[in-house]
Amino acid sequence: MKICCLGAGYVGGPTMAMIAYKCSDITVTVADINEARINAWNSDELPVFEPGLDDVVKAARGRNLFFTTDKVTAIKEADIIFVSVGTPTKTYGAGAGKAADLKYIELCARDIAEHSDRSKIVVEKSTLPVRTAQGLKTVLSANTREGIDFQVLSNPEFLAEGTAIEDLENPDRVLIGGEEETEAGRAAIETLAKVYEYWVPRENIITTNLWSSELSKLVANAFLAQRISSINSISALCERTGANVDQVAYAIGRDSRIGPKFLKASVGFGGSCFQKDILNLVYLCEYFGLPDVAAYWEQVIIMNDWQKSRFSQKIVTTLFNTVNGKRIAMLGFAFKKDTNDTRETAAMYVGRDLLDEQAVLAVHDPKVSREQIFKDLKESETDAEGNPNPLVDICDDPYEAAKGAHGLAVMTEWDSFKDLDYKKIYEGMYKPAFIFDGRNILDHEALREIGFEVFAIGGK
Ligand code: NAD
Ligand code: UDX
Repeated sequence: MKICCLGAGYVGGPTMAMIAYKCSDITVTVADINEARINAWNSDELPVFEPGLDDVVKAARGRNLFFTTDKVTAIKEADIIFVSVGTPTKTYGAGAGKAADLKYIELCARDIAEHSDRSKIVVEKSTLPVRTAQGLKTVLSANTREGIDFQVLSNPEFLAEGTAIEDLENPDRVLIGGEEETEAGRAAIETLAKVYEYWVPRENIITTNLWSSELSKLVANAFLAQRISSINSISALCERTGANVDQVAYAIGRDSRIGPKFLKASVGFGGSCFQKDILNLVYLCEYFGLPDVAAYWEQVIIMNDWQKSRFSQKIVTTLFNTVNGKRIAMLGFAFKKDTNDTRETAAMYVGRDLLDEQAVLAVHDPKVSREQIFKDLKESETDAEGNPNPLVDICDDPYEAAKGAHGLAVMTEWDSFKDLDYKKIYEGMYKPAFIFDGRNILDHEALREIGFEVFAIGGK
């Protein structure tokens, strides 16, 4: 069997690497139009940082895992074609700011129809609005030769960044949606299920109709994000009342109906998925004439935006209502630990707010590149004369970032931040020295003993 995947991004790359790793008799080719990305997948410096990914790629690459820009050959040879291209929020026209932009998906469908000379299974791996498969099928069948049939399946990906390999190796479930009502549809579902069965127990492979599968992905992300916005809303109430949000989260999480996961209050959720997928859900609800349902889910985003700006305001008001010219150290820039991804990271929004207030930002992140941080902050590295930007200082070393700072903000929960020598950091900072723990990962009592003034999300 031959599998191809269009899109070698955060999802396509690791997902296909895992399939190739687990199924040594299946040839897996990942095709992308971005040559630099493909070159990186073929090098020692993979374009995605994920714990364990290097080993999986190294074991399979060149054996039965290939990365290429030649999508035509990849499409022609494949029995199953995964589509794992981006589905960003639309920035233009109808639905701008909410609806998913499906242009990359449609281009893939047209490519598949044009270059296929036999029937194939097409798998939606990207996260898509419910009922996209219908449009996909129409484009495929309108552009292909007679006698060629495409079975469209929905197989959304539930991996989280930073734990992608663990999630792929041991998924809570694999979801496959297809045309359950036809024999050909059931056969296609079975073919894909057989691939996952190489390593996933059958009882963890759920099959549904197409629309349930497409919708389940959006709903899963909406529920997860809703938990974070819920606990973040409570963090504000804790700060006013003397309750401690971590204690509240623990107490409610012990109820087995609530459960302990995804109740960590934070400076706000980031990442490429939650906001985009909820906006998409909101758009769909509006489109299907359900404005009250749309407003309900939109509140999850509104609360998240509020949490991020509340954090920047807290820094400014605590530092005596001005950060103008003051150095603020930001520890962490990635949207969560163990990833180099900064898409929608809270650090970017808080950083921009502080720059608007004319602070000097000293940013340290163990994995995010200097170029990426400048890009996200919408700042250039140098001025017209080539002098370094005086407002943004990217530091390889966390102690250097904190040196001469008035405040230090923990933006990402990197484990290494817990073990820093905070006495040394304190000595190098202006007094009073403030710490704003946007992730509640530090030992606040110990910090106060050193002399820090500590602000913790949800009071502690
Ligand atoms: P990404 O931007 O990292 O990767 C998409 C890739 O598709 C890019 O490299 C791009 O060059 C390529 N591409 C675009 N058009 C192409 C074409 N016609 N042919 C071949 N390649 C093409 O995106 P991602 O984070 O991997 O996300 C992909 C999809 O998976 C999205 O729908 C996203 O919502 C979903 N998803 C993402 C995550 C995540 O954690 N990032 C998790 C689950 C689901
Ligand atoms: C998410 C979903 O978890 C995953 O199933 C889906 O496939 C893609 O979207 P991801 O965005 O990679 O994954 O990471 P996730 O672990 O969900 O974290 C998202 C954001 O929420 C991060 O900024 C994280 O720091 C934040 N978060 C998470 C909290 O603030 N508190 C929590 O309790 C959990």
